[in-house]
Amino acid sequence: MPAWDRMAKVIFNELKYTTINMQTILLNNGIEMPLLGYGLFKVPPQEAERCTRDALEVGYRLIDTAQAYGNEQGVGDAIRQSGIPREEIFIVTKIWITNAGEEKAARSIEQSLRKLQTDYVDLLLIHQAYGDVFGSWRAMEKAYAQGMTRAIGVSNFQACRFYDFASVVDVKPAVNQLQCCVLSQQRTILPEMERFDTRMMAWGPLGQGSDDLLKSPVLDAIGEQYGKTPAQVALRWLIERGIVAIPKSMHKERMAANFDIFDFSLTEADMKAIEPLNQKDTGFRDFADPNYLRRILGMFDLK
Ligand SMILES: NC(=O)c1ccc[n+]([C@@H]2O[C@H](COP(=O)([O-])OP(=O)(O)OC[C@H]3O[C@@H](n4cnc5c(N)ncnc54)[C@H](OP(=O)(O)O)[C@@H]3O)[C@@H](O)[C@H]2O)c1
Repeated sequence: MPAWDRMAKVIFNELKYTTINMQTILLNNGIEMPLLGYGLFKVPPQEAERCTRDALEVGYRLIDTAQAYGNEQGVGDAIRQSGIPREEIFIVTKIWITNAGEEKAARSIEQSLRKLQTDYVDLLLIHQAYGDVFGSWRAMEKAYAQGMTRAIGVSNFQACRFYDFASVVDVKPAVNQLQCCVLSQQRTILPEMERFDTRMMAWGPLGQGSDDLLKSPVLDAIGEQYGKTPAQVALRWLIERGIVAIPKSMHKERMAANFDIFDFSLTEADMKAIEPLNQKDTGFRDFADPNYLRRILGMFDLK
């Protein structure tokens, strides 16, 4: 059985919220994480509170933000004002490259908690595999031991980097957040992640709005059988593989459509038909290119 099929065999649990049932997945430290969440990359700070509030109203209970997105404060405001018990919301944030290293990461974790207006996050990630990631990890292990985060993980760690890192550190990464969607299926890294029981969380689950995904005739034909759009099929395809999807939209009706994926399932034939859509298995970024690093280093001005 291929590794990505085995990954889909993780045990799903039903978690009951006030009005919805959300499927969850178990992390390697035993905590539950919703299989579907809401992402806030490119949501401007002044829109973050409104978007997070809309997402919570739609039913999302996992919110994915990051220091680099500049919108932790708005996320915190919306969560505080929502009246939803803190323990029912799964908050993910990430440490940016310029905060790498033990001391800087420790300070930045406290800053994230202040902005998010909470004593703890549910998952804390190293955003990119650059800089002093081992120093950051030591700070994260301490934060984990002190209850400032319920789980720790990484993001954008490619197969060899991931294996090297996970082999050395004491607390094994609970999650590796990677670009993953039907166009970029991330099959080759899965065996490496399975060694450490690390779950995949998919960024760009809608191909970052690409027509290749949203207007795919293959996804459209599959969706027609169930009354679903290509976007909904693409998200369903992820959660059927046991991969957490965190679609972003600034429109409430799209947030709702992206959330409406728990009343149908894909057949083996559907899954097989989607396989050939894989254009670049490991994602579309070239993390080994110094120009890429230079570009993203200049991209965010952390305050
Ligand atoms: N770890 C990392 O390095 C990393 C990198 C990128 C993203 N992420 C995380 O992953 C999340 C999702 O990734 P992403 O935001 O890059 O891409 P995405 O969720 O794949 O796609 C978002 C794009 O699709 C559009 N969209 C959303 N739902 C739609 C629908 N139902 N129909 C048509 N268009 C739709 C959105 O436009 P509208 O907003 O106008 O609806 C937006 O342009 C991010 O928000 C962030 O939390 C992490």
